[in-house]
Parts: sequence; C-alpha cells; structure tokens
Amino acid sequence: MNDLAAVSAREDKPEAFDAERVRRDFPILQQQVNGQPLVYLDNAATTQKPECVIEAISDYYRHDNSNVHRGAHTLADRATAAFEGARRKVADFIHAASPEQVIWTRGTTEAINLVASSWGHSELRPGDRILVSAMEHHSNIVPWQIVASHTGARVEAIPVDSSGTLDIQAFEAMLDGKVRMVAIGHVSNALGTVNPVVEIVRMAHAVGARVLVDGAQAVGHWQVDVQSLDCDFYVFSSHKMFGPTGIGVLYGRRELLDAMPPYQGGGEMIESVSFAGTTFNKLPYKFEAGTPDIAGVIGLGAAVDYLKHLDRAGAARHEQALLEYAQKKAQAVPGLRVIGTSGHKVSVLSFVLEGGHPADLGMLLDQQGVAVRTGNHCAQPIMDQFGIPGTVRASFSFYNTFDDVDRLFAALEKARQFLV
Ligand code: ALA
Repeated sequence: MNDLAAVSAREDKPEAFDAERVRRDFPILQQQVNGQPLVYLDNAATTQKPECVIEAISDYYRHDNSNVHRGAHTLADRATAAFEGARRKVADFIHAASPEQVIWTRGTTEAINLVASSWGHSELRPGDRILVSAMEHHSNIVPWQIVASHTGARVEAIPVDSSGTLDIQAFEAMLDGKVRMVAIGHVSNALGTVNPVVEIVRMAHAVGARVLVDGAQAVGHWQVDVQSLDCDFYVFSSHKMFGPTGIGVLYGRRELLDAMPPYQGGGEMIESVSFAGTTFNKLPYKFEAGTPDIAGVIGLGAAVDYLKHLDRAGAARHEQALLEYAQKKAQAVPGLRVIGTSGHKVSVLSFVLEGGHPADLGMLLDQQGVAVRTGNHCAQPIMDQFGIPGTVRASFSFYNTFDDVDRLFAALEKARQFLV
C-alpha cells in the first residue's frame, strides 16, 4: 500500500481530548509560517508556552522584579515569595518529599553536570563503573566521561536492540558491585523509547548503585512521581514542559544532596565566609550560587499550574493516538524507514527517507509551514548504531491535532517530488 490517502485512522480515533481548545492557550500556534498555518512538531526540542506562562514572566518584570532572599523591601519580599512558592509547586508536582530537594539549575544539562561533578568527584574511585544507555543524549554521556577521566572510573554503554529498546538482560549481566551509577533517560529524545525506569532502579539498587534519571523528555508527557520511581536523582528542563528556557530542576535524595559538596561557589551558597575557611548553606541553597533565573522559576511555577489544570491522562491518550496515527501513515510511505520502533514509545516519530537528506527534508517541510527537527539530535552513538547520520524527527504534544499529522505527510509527499 503506498497511497497515503488509503491510511485514514481518523474515524477510529475520536479526539476525546479537546486539542483545538487547548491550542488557543498557546499564542504562538496562531500564526502562519511561509504562508501556511504553522504545524509545530518540534516539541522534543522545546515546547510552546501558554499565555499564563508568558503573563507570569511579564507580570514579574512589570511589578515585582527584585533580587531574592537578601532584600529588605517589599519587592524583594514579593519576588522571594513567588520564587520559593514555585519551588513548593514543583516539589508537589513531582511528589518530592520536601521543597529543599528541588535544586534550580539552568536545565537538564546543568543538573547532570552538577551530579557528575559533585557526587562523582567525591564518590568515584579508579575501576568504578558508570552505566549509561546507548541511546542517551550527549548531556547524559559527556559529563560522566569528564568525571571518569578525572577519577579513573569507566563509562560503559548498556546495549539497545535494533528496535531502539534497552536490552534489559544485557543490563542485568553488566551489574556488579563496581557499578556506582546508572544514568538513564526516562524517554529517548531521538527515538521516543520509554525506558523501564522502575525496574532499572530496582536492579541497580540491588548492587548498591545510584540511579540518575534524565526526565527531560518525560515531564511534558505524563505525571512523574520521584518517590514511586525510587530514583536517587531526577533531572528535567522547564522549557520541555511549557515553561521558559534557562531553568531546570535537579531533584535528589536528601541524604545524597546533604553529603555532596557544592558545585559552584559564590553568593547565596555560603553560611559564612572568611579567609580562615568558609562554611556552606543548607539545602537547596548550597547548590544555588549566584542570582538565579527568578523570572524563569516563576514562569516554571505558572507552567506547573497550567498542567495541574489540564486533563493530563486525556492529553497523554491524545498524544499516543497522534503517534500511532503518524506511525501508521509512515508505514505507507515508500522508502521511509522509522528509526525507533520500540513497543513502548511516546511522542517521537524519527525517520529517514530514501534519497532525501534529513536537513533537506527539514527545509522542504519548513517551506510548507511544518516545523520538525533534523540531525543526530545530540545522540550520535545511537545514530551510529543505526548506521545513519541523523533523522527527521516529528515530536508531538497535546496541542497537536490529527490535521497536523496529515499536514506533515502531505508536506513530505510534496517534498519527495523535489528529491527525485
Ligand atoms: N535535546 C533537545 C532535542 O532533542 C534539544 O531536540
């Protein structure tokens, strides 16, 4: 079957979740790009921001802008209340036992670097092993390689099979008392594979290893509960869950965070400073040197409020229906190979098309108003395993519609005519 029109799962997939209504919360989606209504399918790179997030940031700068914690005036009190209020919202959102276990970072990347540097330098010894999966984003590989090069530890890759599924038996066989850290993505940004994090944590803990979960690609799709995952660290970025860029979260088990040395020195992270010696602040401030991204934190708090009022189960079902619909349509395109066909996936349709370089395809889709990402998605090792330089990646969020999927495939069909 090579007729796209022949694939019409739309009748079978009623939009129980009202994507058309939630789209109206996102001003950026109401525009034309290159003369066509925008179809935004680059949600794994960054999600769009609802009006309430944009307003929260703007309100803060219009009315409350001040530095936090150290001011003796009304604006400083207001800014501090909003800033710490957002920390409580985020703690509640991920079900952390206390807000002190929510550390603000610049994003997922900085959060992983913080753990790799602080925990890694104090805990790792020559011969220790750090396991990461072969499908990790570079930000969950390189920080471990850096700390390994300083400590004599080794970074090893847990194999991934040809469908893009983690080989859990191989993982089990790799585990021994030398494994100190397992750093794993909750969801692969390049393939969309959902990893069995609960099982991974249980298996890693059985040999005394710690587990860091990179939740960047998960938090925008479903409710995360760090206590029921039982992970030691969970990291994510605000901008992948409808909040602003430049702000992210490190959640950690309290006893680990308490024992870890500071990552950066400066204001806020100290208790007292003298040339005889300096003592450090308590959690979370020990890890928050310098003036933080106050507006970013407040924007993230607004994104949490937005998500709390959304039917998240309905949104997740809708996203899954979009992905299945897109995967079905992809099967009908001659020469299209889906990269990442695991049985447990979310949001991501990554593919290559015979005769078309991903970058060219991305440009041709953009000319038709369809925004996707192309390239190796900062996951070069898994691209190497598939023997490709990169993919075209469409990634869905709850504000996408079945029409968006149709537009993607219509644009692809048109793009193909330019390639031959
Ligand atoms: N890590 C982001 C992505 O996958 C930027 O696109």
